[in-house]
This record gives sequence, C-alpha cells and structure tokens, in this order.
Amino acid sequence: MTVRLVPFADEHVDPMERTIVDDAILRFTGIPVPTPPGWVQLWRKRFIEEDREHWAIVDGEEFAGYAVTGPLDREGLQVELGYAVSPWARGRGIATAALDLLTRWALDAGFLRLTLLIDTENVASQRVAEKAGYTYEGTHRSMPHKNGERVDLQCWSLLPGDLGGPRGQHG
Ligand SMILES: CC(C)(COP(=O)(O)OP(=O)(O)OC[C@H]1O[C@@H](n2cnc3c(N)ncnc32)[C@H](O)[C@@H]1OP(=O)(O)O)[C@@H](O)C(=O)NCCC(=O)NCCS
Repeated sequence: MTVRLVPFADEHVDPMERTIVDDAILRFTGIPVPTPPGWVQLWRKRFIEEDREHWAIVDGEEFAGYAVTGPLDREGLQVELGYAVSPWARGRGIATAALDLLTRWALDAGFLRLTLLIDTENVASQRVAEKAGYTYEGTHRSMPHKNGERVDLQCWSLLPGDLGGPRGQHG
C-alpha cells in the first residue's frame, strides 16, 4: 500500500462520481442527496472560493477516495479535516494512512488545533480517528446535517504535541 494525497485533477472526476454513490458516504458526509448531475465540478470550485484544500487519495495509481479541509482559520490556526474512501478500497488502512498525511500537512502548515466531526453512528471513522492519534473531546448534540435531518457529532482533536517527536510529527 502506497497512499498519497495528490491535487484533485480532471482524471479524478470519474472515479469520484463512482465513489459518491456509496450509501455510507451519502449518509455521513455533507454531499447532497440526491446528488445533482455535475456536482463534483461545483464541489471543486467551492474549495477555491472558500479557502479550503482538497485532494484525491491514491493508492499506487488507483483512486481510493478524497480528503478535504474545512475553511482554513489562518488567525485561530485551527482546521477541520475530512476524508472518505471509495467502497472498493476500504478495509486496508487507507483512511488511516490518508488521515496521517492530512494531519502532517496541517501541522506542517502551522495549524495548532486539528478537528474531526464524526457521526456517533460512524464507528469505522471513529476507529480511524483513534488509530491516527486523535482524542475524543465530546459530542455536539443535534447538529444540522442535510435534508432537515439533525445528527449527534463527536468532536475529535489533535494538537501538535499529541504525537510526540519534534514538532509533533510522526512516521
Ligand atoms: C470511514 C472510512 C473512511 C474508513 O475507511 P477505511 O480505509 O476502510 O479505514 P481503515 O481501513 O483505515 O480503518 C477502518 C477501521 O474501522 C474498523 N471498522 C470498519 N467498519 C467498522 C464497523 N462497522 N464497526 C466497527 N469498526 C469498523 C476497521 O476494522 C478498521 O479498524 P482496525 O484497523 O482496528 O481493524 C470509510 O468507511 C468511508 O469512506 N466511509 C464513508 C465516509 C465517511 O464516513 N467519512 C468520514 C466522515 S467523518
């Protein structure tokens, strides 16, 4: 397994469209349901407008999912991170490897508080957070989700010192 985060490019649009039809992704991410045709291109545009980052996750040469940040808080130096793995690539540690890379990117960029918001029912993602060294802080109750739904979201965080070693880096 050789997991990398690469800039999201035109070649990733097709596997991304095949990825976001997955039930777990539609349930646990903000991707609209139903997903309008051409939504991936709008999604890409939004990252530039909102000062956020997005990457394709690749394993070798295979598209394996996507990784994102929320809006970059360059004054408060905090950032929310997110990830999803294509259904065909799950269960082999890709999300954990991708979150390690995202975490390293955020620490290298100088952020001092990294957060993940994870649905209380999304046990796989909670496990990923735990494996990547994040700390469970508590649960935000009844957060607005989409289509009028509300969900309970666990907040997990990582601070530079949490991973040990110089500048909090690991690996
Ligand atoms: C959550 C998700 C990213 C995990 O991707 P992945 O590449 O399969 O994750 P990993 O292989 O790195 O690790 C998954 C861990 O969760 C565990 N797991 C998976 N499904 C589980 C379940 N239903 N119950 C409990 N644990 C589960 C795995 O066993 C593994 O832990 P282990 O290494 O201790 O065995 C993927 O399922 C996904 O994209 N889900 C939909 C989108 C999403 O939820 N994104 C995160 C939003 S916060």
